[in-house]
Amino acid sequence: MSATTQTSGRFQQGLSRLLQSRVAEVLSYPHGVDRYLEVFNPLWSATEVRARVDAVQHLTADSVTLTLKPNSNWEGFVPGQFVQLTVSINGKRHTRCYSPANSLHRKDGCIELTAKTHADGFVSRYLRDAVRVGDVVTLSPAGGEFALPAQRPERVLLISGGSGITPVMSMLRTLCDEGFKGEITFLHYANRADDMIYAQEVADIASRHENVTLLRAFPEKSEGGELTGLFSSEHLFKSVPDFAQATTFLCGPPPMMAVVEKVWEEQGITDRLHKEQFTLASAAVDEDESAEGEVRFARSETLVTNDGKTLLEQAEAAGLNPESGCRMGICYSCTCKKTAGKVRDLRTGEITSGDEEDIQLCVSVPVGTVTLDI
Ligand code: FES
Repeated sequence: MSATTQTSGRFQQGLSRLLQSRVAEVLSYPHGVDRYLEVFNPLWSATEVRARVDAVQHLTADSVTLTLKPNSNWEGFVPGQFVQLTVSINGKRHTRCYSPANSLHRKDGCIELTAKTHADGFVSRYLRDAVRVGDVVTLSPAGGEFALPAQRPERVLLISGGSGITPVMSMLRTLCDEGFKGEITFLHYANRADDMIYAQEVADIASRHENVTLLRAFPEKSEGGELTGLFSSEHLFKSVPDFAQATTFLCGPPPMMAVVEKVWEEQGITDRLHKEQFTLASAAVDEDESAEGEVRFARSETLVTNDGKTLLEQAEAAGLNPESGCRMGICYSCTCKKTAGKVRDLRTGEITSGDEEDIQLCVSVPVGTVTLDI
């Protein structure tokens, strides 16, 4: 490292400490330090991770890949973890979770996030259609238990479906950059060959690395994958016969993950399966259970008829703006106090019994009348 770089690093650390100090807070009251810094450069912030969009790509027709250059508040990630990305759309902040897909050893300090767009994906459509190079977005620190262990496993099996490819792509790129010598099998499920994000790069990696086996599975044989159909134990037993010895990382749509998990359970090797889910699996609802009662947002003095949707959706439909992030129960940013009534957790189907308790709005639906401290 050159003397100039060291000096500039020390200067940035000193400046950062100064901006986070009580003195800076008092001097910038009531707007806060960031409001003044933004005037000079939207990337500057005393504490927030902000990132400039360096590139926008469309690897498939229904996805967008953003290359982001974060400011010096970014502390890095472990392959597999996720970040919360916040964008401002029509003056309102919206947050969603995405897993960096880049290698840990990427040299330019950028991170790469890929979002698959859905017809009702408000934020993902915005990222695809409106985000431009030079825009600035906000990121949370990286988090999540789904992560490549520091002690690399000897044998790795990566299983993904659809946009679940992003965290395992980061693992694959990282391991290959490290010259990992163990066997890696990359088993990916997509609806069509054209829908497979990173298709070309994964194929290139497999052709360059003898220890990487690529297995693509599409519903139709005509799509040209190595396997045909949805995930099944036959795929596994035939194509990855030593799967029980592998450390497996799984990310994909809930139905696919449930089938994979069942196989690992039957084999008694669930401790070797690490998983991340990026869409909410709805627990089965009792047939007799229909939406009834009211949702009372006490602090906002707002009352709506319970329509059976999640409390986050009902709050937003009522014109409220509670904090939220992943919208699938993993980031806890939507946690709030319920002061009366019962809710059902969409992930487990469990109905809470206590009146006063903290709940996650994005994965809770009311069972009868509920009062929230919002
Ligand atoms: S928004 Fe992340 S847990 Fe609810």
